[in-house]
Amino acid sequence: ADTQTGQLRQIYALSADLFHHILINTAIGEPALNYLHQRGLSDETIETFYLGFAPTQQVLLPFLKDRNFSRELLVRSGLFSEGNDGSLYQRFKERVLFPIRDPQKRVIAFSGRLLTKNDQLPKYLNSPETVLFNKRKVLFNFDLAKGEIRQQGFAILFEGFMDVISAYQAGVHQGVASMGTSLTNEQIYLLERTTERLCLCYDGDSPGQKATARALQLLQPLTKLELGVIPIPGQRDPDEYINQESPAAFVKLVENGQQNQMSFWFSFLATERNLTNENDQLAYISDVLEKIAGVASPVARDLYLGQLAKRFSLDKKSLAGQLHSLLQQQA
Ligand code: UTP
Ligand code: MN
Ligand code: MN
Ligand code: MN
Ligand code: MN
Repeated sequence: ADTQTGQLRQIYALSADLFHHILINTAIGEPALNYLHQRGLSDETIETFYLGFAPTQQVLLPFLKDRNFSRELLVRSGLFSEGNDGSLYQRFKERVLFPIRDPQKRVIAFSGRLLTKNDQLPKYLNSPETVLFNKRKVLFNFDLAKGEIRQQGFAILFEGFMDVISAYQAGVHQGVASMGTSLTNEQIYLLERTTERLCLCYDGDSPGQKATARALQLLQPLTKLELGVIPIPGQRDPDEYINQESPAAFVKLVENGQQNQMSFWFSFLATERNLTNENDQLAYISDVLEKIAGVASPVARDLYLGQLAKRFSLDKKSLAGQLHSLLQQQA
């Protein structure tokens, strides 16, 4: 079993080399390389993340067969699918490849992005799970980010691989992403061992904001991590923001734009509501109070209560009464 795992590691290392070589040095890779340059990535960044390109041509199978890997192992690698006639087909076709690395910097999987939009196919396709790759345990870029997370005192969680990579190129090196799902207990544990603070920097569009709200609700009861949010202005994702504004503007957002959880809720709960309308006001106030009731520190609760009262010119005592009954329901 040990030698099988070792051989699978070899297969992934060799595949990453091949796909990177195709991207960087061949005519077949040129459209993909142009695509990445157009998206603002430098050659240095492409090298750092060891990006690759899997063409339509079946390049991987002959390459690995030449190196005498057994058919069984090739099937286990997840890099091929098996046709009805028993033949093997390369899983990633016409996709830019993002190698997924373990904390020891070894490639254990790929995520592949379609080079050209195709409504029949998923935009991103991941390797299936193998003995090397358990997607619940992996945080994309954790190996490169770890040192900087320790140094800066916080980690940044992005939605997408391109967000992590563009942020990295902009000089923000403490970014990670999950594999397109919400954080698992294993990923939370990995972060808790490294830092005390986690900032969510999700897409600025409505799905991204809703995902931020869901993530905060999920994480709050599960973790001791102090949670913050870095909102991206203008319906863009971090990668688009960096390219449309500038790397320096993004660095500033990270340094000066961090919200605590309650500021996020104050603004998020106001979206899709008309706060000049009394019913909406009441619903908003009751939602905010519920969030305040979830805050552990009595001093912080008092502070937020004061902010809420001031905003609607309310008597703080009546709000405090309502908060008190919420707290009693919880106890
Ligand atoms: P987005 O749709 O925001 O993609 O999905 P993106 O990261 O901005 O990608 P680009 O900029 O178009 O290249 C966010 C993340 O959700 C996962 C991926 O991890 C993606 O980065 N996802 C998205 C999938 O797993 N499959 C999909 O088909 C789409
Ligand atoms: Mn290079
Ligand atoms: Mn999105
Ligand atoms: Mn994007
Ligand atoms: Mn996005």
